[in-house]
Amino acid sequence: NYVWTQNGIIAKDSLFYPFEERGLQFGDGIYEVIRIYQGNYDLLEAHIDRLYRSAEAIRLQVPFNKETLIASLQKLAEKNAVETDAKLYLQITRGSAPREHTFPNVPSNLYAYIEQSARPAAQLQQGVRTILTEDIRWDLCYIKSLNLLPNILAKQTAKEKGAYEAIFHKNGQVTEGSSSNVFIVKDNVLYTHPAAQNILHGCVRNRVLNLAAESALEIQETTFSTQQLLAADEVFITSTTSEVMPVIEVDGNCIRNGKPGVITRKLQLAYEKVSE
Ligand code: PDD
Repeated sequence: NYVWTQNGIIAKDSLFYPFEERGLQFGDGIYEVIRIYQGNYDLLEAHIDRLYRSAEAIRLQVPFNKETLIASLQKLAEKNAVETDAKLYLQITRGSAPREHTFPNVPSNLYAYIEQSARPAAQLQQGVRTILTEDIRWDLCYIKSLNLLPNILAKQTAKEKGAYEAIFHKNGQVTEGSSSNVFIVKDNVLYTHPAAQNILHGCVRNRVLNLAAESALEIQETTFSTQQLLAADEVFITSTTSEVMPVIEVDGNCIRNGKPGVITRKLQLAYEKVSE
């Protein structure tokens, strides 16, 4: 099992970090999670583009250009002989240096590794329960930053309540999930929060909007309230690992009849078709 670092591909067990590392001490870095279906990366360029946008936003140097990065990730998949469904985790931090808030003058630290990851087949079929929780995060959630404490706390609360995901809301408006984007369908119109600075611009979100446009579904990239969420005909969340995941319950309230919706199912199937 191999990991890719700025120094090349090395055995996973041989990667060590100094305790004074910007990611470890400050969460001073960015990351991506990329799906692999049957050994092939899905939405690879979209993820890499977002990685560069995140890096620019925090004034972090990516030690490679896009072409080298993509070629290296392909090499890593080959070296690990990935043939099944898996996912890649990649992170870049501002490097290893004595702890001081200001930027050190050292090279970035990068690593990427691949892990087996089965599709959540049962949940995709049956739908999942969710809870609502206040969005206490900062204003720049479009940056895929390593600072995930609010997301972790929200997801843990969801788990303890028997739910799959926590849906954030701010001033009564739904923003996104703790690790997903949120969509609702009402009267045959698809709504999702606009790709503003306060949510992550999900790669799956973007693909689903394209699929919806192709199917001539009316799309509104506008905010919607928690009341509109509860009164929706259909609700689903999207992410690299959750794909198009039907939501059948929010805070103990069934979404309509408590079964995955028809439009959700259509988009789910369309998604499977393009990503297989
Ligand atoms: N999470 N919103 C947040 C806060 C996320 O963390 C994610 C992804 C998404 C969906 O983005 P995408 O469609 O590009 O996966 C939305 C990843 C999977 C994670 O942190 O594990």
